[in-house]
This record gives sequence, C-alpha cells and structure tokens, in this order.
Amino acid sequence: MIRFTNILFVFVTALSLASTQSKASSTDVKDQEKDQGKWQEKMQSLAQVMGELLPELVSPNGDPKIIEKDAKALSELSHSLKEGRMTGKMMPPSDLDPSIGLVAGRFSDETKHAYFAIQHGNLNYGKTLLRSTTAYCIACHTRHENGPEFPTFPLNPKVEGLGREEKAEIYVATRQFDKGLAEFQSLIADEELVKKHPFEWERPLRNALAIAVRVKNDPSLAMDSVNTALKSPFVPEFERASLLKWKDAIESWKKETKPKANTENQLVSEMKRLIANAKASQSFPIDHSGEIQYLRASGSAHDLLRVTKKPQVKAEALRTAGIAYEVLANPVFWPMHELYYKACVRELPHSKLAQDCYQHFEQSVYFGYTGSAGTFIPDDIQTELLELKSLASPKVKNQEKAKKDEVGLN
Ligand code: HEC
Repeated sequence: MIRFTNILFVFVTALSLASTQSKASSTDVKDQEKDQGKWQEKMQSLAQVMGELLPELVSPNGDPKIIEKDAKALSELSHSLKEGRMTGKMMPPSDLDPSIGLVAGRFSDETKHAYFAIQHGNLNYGKTLLRSTTAYCIACHTRHENGPEFPTFPLNPKVEGLGREEKAEIYVATRQFDKGLAEFQSLIADEELVKKHPFEWERPLRNALAIAVRVKNDPSLAMDSVNTALKSPFVPEFERASLLKWKDAIESWKKETKPKANTENQLVSEMKRLIANAKASQSFPIDHSGEIQYLRASGSAHDLLRVTKKPQVKAEALRTAGIAYEVLANPVFWPMHELYYKACVRELPHSKLAQDCYQHFEQSVYFGYTGSAGTFIPDDIQTELLELKSLASPKVKNQEKAKKDEVGLN
C-alpha cells in the first residue's frame, strides 16, 4: 500500500511537472512581470524614504528618530535589491547590467554601516554616511538612456525647502532628470560657489555632464553646462584648461553622424571606438581632459552590459567600464573600478581579457596601498590577488605546471 501511494505520488508529480513545463514560457513572462513590479515597488519606497530623510539630514534640527527609522528602511531596501539581483529573483525590467548588483552591494554595505552607527550612538557619523547615499541612486539611474523618466514625481513636501544641491540630487535620484539638470545648471552658474568652494562647484558640473552625456545622449545639453561654467571669471585655471578640452570633445561629437548601434556587434564596435578615443585624449593616467570621452565610453559599456549574455562581450564591457570609472574617479565610489576588473576576470577566466583586467586590478591595488612608508598589502588582499591571478592566467600553463609539480620538476 505504501509502495502504491509512492508510485501514485511519483506519477502525479511527473504529470504536474510535465504540465508546468508546457506552460513554462507563459509562466516565465508572468514571473518577469512580477519581478519588474517588485523592483519598481522597492524603488517607489526608496523614493519615499529618501524624500523624508534628506530634509532631516540637512536640517540642524533633524529628528534622530526619523533618521534612525529611515536608515533602517534604506538598509533593508538596499539589502533586498542586492539579494534580488544576486539570486535573480528580483530584476529591473530588461536590464542585465551587473553594475546593478555591484552598486546595490555597496549601497547595502554603506547603509547597514550607517544604521549600525546610529543604533550605537554615533548619530553624526551615521548622518555623514547617509548624506552621500543619493550617489548610489544617481549611479544606477545615470548609466544609460534607458528607463522611465519622470517630469515630476510626488515627493515629501519638505523637499521644496532644501538647498539647490540637495534638491538637484533628490530629483536625479528619483529620475526627474530635467528638474535635476536645471538645479545643477544654476549651481554651475553660481559665481560665489566657484569662488569660495571650487571643489564643491565641480560636483554639480560633473553630475550635469553625466546626465547630458549618458542619460540624454545630447551634446548640446553637455555644451550648455560647459559654456555656463566657462562664463565665470572665478573658475580655477586648471579647471578652465579641462573645460576647453571638454568643449572641443563635445564639438567633435556634434559633428559625428549617429552610429548604427542596433546589433550587439555594432554596440561592441562603438564601445571600442569610444574607449580608444578616450585613451587618446589623455596625456597622463589621471588626466581629466578626457571626461566627455570617458563618460561616453562608460555609457556604451553599460549599453552592452544591459543586453548581452555573451561572456566575451560582457568581459570586454566590464573592462571598459573599469577603465572609464578609474579615470572618472567619483570619490563616493572609489575604488568601484576594481569591482569591474574583478568581475571581468571571473566572467572569462583564463583568457587574454582576464589577464588584462587582472593587470589593471593589480596595479590599482598596489597604488591604493602605497603611501609614504612604502607599499603594504594586507593579507586578505594578497590572497584575493593570488586567487584572481590564477583565474586569469592561461589554463594550459597551469596544467603543465601541475604536471611538473607532480613529477617533481619544479
Ligand atoms: C542598484 C541600482 C539602483 C539603485 C541603487 C537605485 N535605483 Fe532606482 N531604479 C533602478 C532601475 C534599474 C530603475 C528602472 C526601472 C525601470 O526601467 O522601470 C529604477 C527606477 C527608479 C524609480 C522609478 C520607479 C517607477 O515607478 O518606474 C524611482 C522613483 C527610483 N528608481 C528611485 C530611487 C531612489 C530614490 C534611489 C536611492 C535611494 C534608487 N532609486 C536607487 C536602479 C537603482
């Protein structure tokens, strides 16, 4: 009897499996729609939390209770983005870009850290960490020109009372790019700001360019920001020299005929062309004169990462993104480029591309751990370097080495 029930059970299971499989494609579509709905829901919640939190963070009388509650919410939401992307259970609509997982991971670590600090009485430290978290929203949303754009998005009414920079950030963080650009533009034109705080002035300028180049893909908009910046007599000389080079780059961009980029191969050629241009525009490694070219190259890498499933193409795009972000050097994300190099090695192990990505990674790590007292690489980083190096190196050689080891030749 027991046996019979078992057989019956197996039979019924087999039947239901067969019927699930025959419906697989429609179920997949439904699952995907559900995932997208879930992703958008999380985003709406993030927008709500950020709209409440930012005014509290910048106000001298910010309410610690609200700040703690929102830090917890950000930490949980960003954790669920990271998990959802990692397990594939919650994906943004038609976007395979691994950057989403990388940014979500950093976002989650940072907000967890901030929440922990606040819970343990370090309110001010927690606030400082939270203050820069809009950068994560902006990083994900300004990768390329795809995705919804909102002329207006309902936000907490207190947002209206924020300063221009915070307003610009929250607008871009909630994908209201035109409103964000208008605020950035007015900050770039602010002569007091550039005179007294030239580095703080640079931030809106670079944010505005990232939107004009990558989200809007519009050289005229980029030119508006550069021209506004050049008008001020207080722009530091080194900055003016870069601005003039950016202006040249935008002028050549305007003259280009729009490349065909319909197929993956066309996207690859465009990416290769743009990164070659970007490298050619620099006279030394951290030279910022190629900002426009590097923004364009990174945008083209994201265009590919969004759609490609081919390891070779993905690795190439990850390398390009790594190189571009290393030069673009956003301090909030430093050293984000290393995550791209590592992902490239893991994507296509034992290949020429992996070796090249490993070299970039190794060099960045060595520079990062070099100070006036010399180079000191911590043990865990050494271990990681070794692991990646062997993943990157050619397989054949490894096998030969293993054979030699076996017969005692080494
Ligand atoms: C890890 C990447 C990532 C981070 C971090 C991120 N977003 Fe998003 N967000 C996306 C993607 C991708 C979409 C586009 C989804 C689509 O195409 O519909 C999106 C869409 C949105 C939308 C539009 C939702 C809708 O109804 O269509 C809002 C609002 C939003 N995000 C707010 C935020 C805010 C606020 C933050 C920061 C607190 C944030 N996001 C952080 C990736 C991210």
